[in-house]
Amino acid sequence: MGFHRLFKQLRDHDPVHWNADGVEPGFWSVTRYEDYLRVQKDPTSFSSAATNVLGPHRWHGDEGSGRMLTHTDPPRHTELRQLVSRSFTPRAVASLEPYLRSVISDALDGAIADGECNFVDVVAMLPVASIAALMGVPQEDWGLLLRLTGAAFGSADQDFQTSPSARATAAQAHAQLLLYCQDLMRQRREAPREDIVSRLVEAERAGHLSEEDAMLFFDVVMLGGNETTRHGAVGALLAFVEFPDQWQQLREDRRLLGSAVAEVLRFVSPSRHVLRRAVRDVQLRDRTILAGQDVVVWHASANRDERTFADPDRFDITRTANPHLGLGAGPHYCLGAALATLELSVFLDELCRRVSAATLLDRPTQLSSTVINGYKHVRVQLHSSEQVGSGDTAGSQRSRDAEGRARAAVAQP
Ligand code: HEM
Repeated sequence: MGFHRLFKQLRDHDPVHWNADGVEPGFWSVTRYEDYLRVQKDPTSFSSAATNVLGPHRWHGDEGSGRMLTHTDPPRHTELRQLVSRSFTPRAVASLEPYLRSVISDALDGAIADGECNFVDVVAMLPVASIAALMGVPQEDWGLLLRLTGAAFGSADQDFQTSPSARATAAQAHAQLLLYCQDLMRQRREAPREDIVSRLVEAERAGHLSEEDAMLFFDVVMLGGNETTRHGAVGALLAFVEFPDQWQQLREDRRLLGSAVAEVLRFVSPSRHVLRRAVRDVQLRDRTILAGQDVVVWHASANRDERTFADPDRFDITRTANPHLGLGAGPHYCLGAALATLELSVFLDELCRRVSAATLLDRPTQLSSTVINGYKHVRVQLHSSEQVGSGDTAGSQRSRDAEGRARAAVAQP
């Protein structure tokens, strides 16, 4: 059964569901929108300190526990967030726009020229370039960071494992990210710049952070912003393939970019879930969650809750009431929200400008991950706007007829 059918069943019949011990310790699954908010907005009952995602690491404990931004509760969490929040305001990130536009337009033009591409690779550099610019990472290291964040996040998928086990792969990638940051911090101590690593060095000097905590901070921001945005962009393309009328509408009216980005975040839900640990016994519907038990809130399900969203399985870029949870909710609401929104907006705008249609050449292969809703391969042919009216698009029409949604055109000329 597909993810979304399973979630619908849970929302309808068992909205607070106990998943027994298996490859990892047991946990509650919360699938309705209203319950999601209840958990996310109550850090005094549902703590982030132990860990914040599913995984076998829960048998052993999490290295960043109680120290990393994502793994703390207020008031420490509020203090940590304030150290860097001014680097993430809409105003602070707006200056990146021309730069991001050039990164994504080069990538799209390259993919069009190549004839066919793996779209997962085409959009990979957009988030890396964004975060690297904010952090102060030099361009020659972007490829390395892309590989490490992929291994750290997607390590449950065998294709990304560089060690015998998922746990070892993730640990190795995290360790390399931490050491990379340590080196960059050393450079910034000598010559500070206008970047986040310099801000972490400042915070360390002022006694707000240890060096190790600063390194963990780097790790969490690098991870939080890379794979999520990348797979948000891939998911957007696939959504437009599935709903070509929406693509046509956006190409005709770019004033819809804002609501299109919100709909991508709702419909795709690049981050599938987050996890909290109950610090006291809590009643949630007819279930008693015991202190010490883990509770998983599924954005992917809450974002399709028919109690909140009309016709939730329809991708509709004109949705006006769209209180989506794609970027979370409560104190841990995505720190990079303004950047993520800018990146996706620039991406969709340039896609509209440069690409008239896309043909899926194979069935996309999904990343094996409960954390990220993403893909390993999305083999696609992008048709340049300049080719509109050529035989390519007719080819797309033929393949759509033949294979339905697995092989479709994004738009008609
Ligand atoms: C489409 C792209 C993105 C999605 C879907 C996304 C999703 C999320 C979600 C759901 C959370 C909440 C985590 C929780 O409740 O524990 C979160 C937190 C966070 N995100 Fe994002 N994110 C995206 C992009 C970014 C970017 C671009 C950055 C940074 C450059 C970033 C940095 C962070 C950080 C640091 C946190 C932790 C905040 C905290 O614990 O206070 N994210 N994100």
